Amino acid sequence: MGKDIKIVFGENFGYRKGIFFVEDIPVRKLVLKYATPSYIYSYSQIVFQINEIKKSFAPISPKICYSVKANSNLSILKIIKENGLNVDIVSEGEMRRSLLAGFSPQSIVFAGVGKSEKEIELGVRKKILCFNVENKEELDIIEKFGNKYKKKINCNLRINLDLDIDTHEYIKTSKKETKFGLDFSIVKKIMKSRKKYKWVEIKGFHFHLGSQIKEPSPYLKALKIIKEFSNEIGFIPEMIDIGGGFGIPYLPEDKVSSIYEFGKEICNFFKEFKVKEVILEPGRFIIGNSGILVTKVLYFKETKNKNFIIVDSGMNDLIRPAFYGSKHLIIPEINKKGEKIKADVVGPICETGDYFGKDIEFPYKLKSGEFIIIGNAGAYSFSMSSNYNSRPRPCEILVKKKKFSLIRKREDFKDLWIGEI
Ligand code: LLP
Repeated sequence: MGKDIKIVFGENFGYRKGIFFVEDIPVRKLVLKYATPSYIYSYSQIVFQINEIKKSFAPISPKICYSVKANSNLSILKIIKENGLNVDIVSEGEMRRSLLAGFSPQSIVFAGVGKSEKEIELGVRKKILCFNVENKEELDIIEKFGNKYKKKINCNLRINLDLDIDTHEYIKTSKKETKFGLDFSIVKKIMKSRKKYKWVEIKGFHFHLGSQIKEPSPYLKALKIIKEFSNEIGFIPEMIDIGGGFGIPYLPEDKVSSIYEFGKEICNFFKEFKVKEVILEPGRFIIGNSGILVTKVLYFKETKNKNFIIVDSGMNDLIRPAFYGSKHLIIPEINKKGEKIKADVVGPICETGDYFGKDIEFPYKLKSGEFIIIGNAGAYSFSMSSNYNSRPRPCEILVKKKKFSLIRKREDFKDLWIGEI
């Protein structure tokens, strides 16, 4: 296996004698048993990623809250729980999943611009660790339910810092044009009148700058602003939640700082800015490198202008290329020498945007029935999947060394007909 491929996929994925393996299992064996398309995750890679982030931030021993939206499979949540992480959620569904996977309410932080009263009530009733608050009205609703259930509720105010970062427009979340967070002027007002709340306890501040952030400097800028603001209003925050966003490489040429660089710089900052508790909300970093999508070639279509490899998975299973123009490494399951070809790898969905990659170079011409690996499909892949074109969702498989298990079965057509008659 080439070194570059290792960097992109992680240590637990790669070719052995030209056949692609996840840990000690050939992918071929799994897809012959469970069919395609299938998501395949590596247990050891998930644990590795968790340990990497723990080690990188060890000097400030933060509370690491895995962002459930990246991948909310129950078995994966269970692994994350067993390895000592907490969770960051954005809906009642994610709260219920997390509780089902064994997380205690005290390990849940709840963000989101549009929490409904019902969702807030559940969070208060369960007494979760903290609400990351994005509207002034939200505080009043939390206060109302705090009073109803006689529970003091921790809140962090999510601040919109108006910071631009180098990532896709759709995943920048702290520019002033975006819907997220509170303006400083509102935060100031809330902080002035915070004594009026009996049940809401404002502990500190939250920000989430965006996703797939490539280097630590935006976090440092954000922290500096928060520190100065805290000084200005004479408030000593107990909690600072710096969100998620730690980037990962998708292609061998992607330049992304290692998590150790993020950790070093951010921990250094907290030497000068003493707070009781720092919260991190990584999603992609934990699970992105830990999964692949395996699909089967249906047709090799040659036209005057281009070759197309038409596969049995599409944008309904992995929407990232269509939605963000993002690039995933795409390689054949069997690595052998042949006549090199270039092709667009496309799905069966009736949309021109339904592609996994354009002008992808393959070492030989793939035939119908051969398998293709789509790399780094652990995060925001299954969790953003849909039944568009009435296609059942793929199954999810977990590999741990020489063992494997089906952690979500492939959807059946009958799963699609719910409530239609
Ligand atoms: N915290 C908050 C408040 C968030 O909104 C997010 C992600 C995270 C944490 C986790 O961010 P991460 O560490 O995974 O970057 N679907 C997009 C990514 C959307 C991210 C949304 N928020 C993609 O496929 O690139």
